[in-house]
Amino acid sequence: MGWLNFSKNAKISVGHTYKARKGGVRIKNFKVYRYDPDKIPNPRLDTYEIDLDNCQPMVLDALIKIKNEIDTTLTFRRSCREGICGSCSMNVDGTNTLACLKSISDIKGDVYIYPLPHMPVIKDLVPDLSSAYEQLTSIKPWLQVDKPHSIAKEHKQSPRERDKLDGLWECVLCFCCSTACPSYWWNSKSFLGPAVLLQAYRWISDSRDKQTEERLNMLDEPFRLYRCHTIMNCTNTCPKGLNPAKAIAEVKKLLVLRK
Ligand code: SF4
Ligand code: SF4
Ligand code: FES
Repeated sequence: MGWLNFSKNAKISVGHTYKARKGGVRIKNFKVYRYDPDKIPNPRLDTYEIDLDNCQPMVLDALIKIKNEIDTTLTFRRSCREGICGSCSMNVDGTNTLACLKSISDIKGDVYIYPLPHMPVIKDLVPDLSSAYEQLTSIKPWLQVDKPHSIAKEHKQSPRERDKLDGLWECVLCFCCSTACPSYWWNSKSFLGPAVLLQAYRWISDSRDKQTEERLNMLDEPFRLYRCHTIMNCTNTCPKGLNPAKAIAEVKKLLVLRK
């Protein structure tokens, strides 16, 4: 496993260049991070020349074209191609985003593509999210009721109660926000990070859930929640337009109000 390092001293060597076929007019360079612990011990940037007249509009389309037509060894995650599954998160043109929602035409010059920063890299654009998922599990991201409930019976909510979940349920758990957060970079074992804290607030806000106090107690300690210093990188980068920094602030407010 390797680590992506964006510092000036990081050694990423220049890799192969895959030329476009002759005759293309709108050629764009895609510079893609390559790392394979079995074959490429030192990361490198490979360049793929893509003819935009023969490519669909999104960055993920270009990656799929590279994999299908130029270099089958390139590895990345994707599934839905519609910003719903959250699996194609990566760093494109200096910003963490979903490759399927990022339009190639929005990027001036060459397109630089790296894996999400400050995470162990399994291969190429695939980070190891095991630790982030363990943190997600720790906040019990499911509905908890106080007594057994028949699945034949609905858990009812008023429209106003349901409205409280807007801006939270849309999270696709891409971890673009957590991997853009400096506090998470330096405290990723102890600070839960914005993605998991937004999920925690989603369940705290759910009128049907009966474990609100326990959920707040779990967060009320120096590292899990309070390592957030309101830097706002998380909110600025969220490709779904959500506001994890606000969710974190709301949890802090609830903790103050109950004291
Ligand atoms: S809040 Fe946004 S950036 Fe963070 S995990 Fe959810 S969808 Fe991704
Ligand atoms: S607001 Fe908090 S969680 Fe978001 S980037 Fe800043 S420190 Fe990280
Ligand atoms: S492929 Fe599902 S969010 Fe991009």
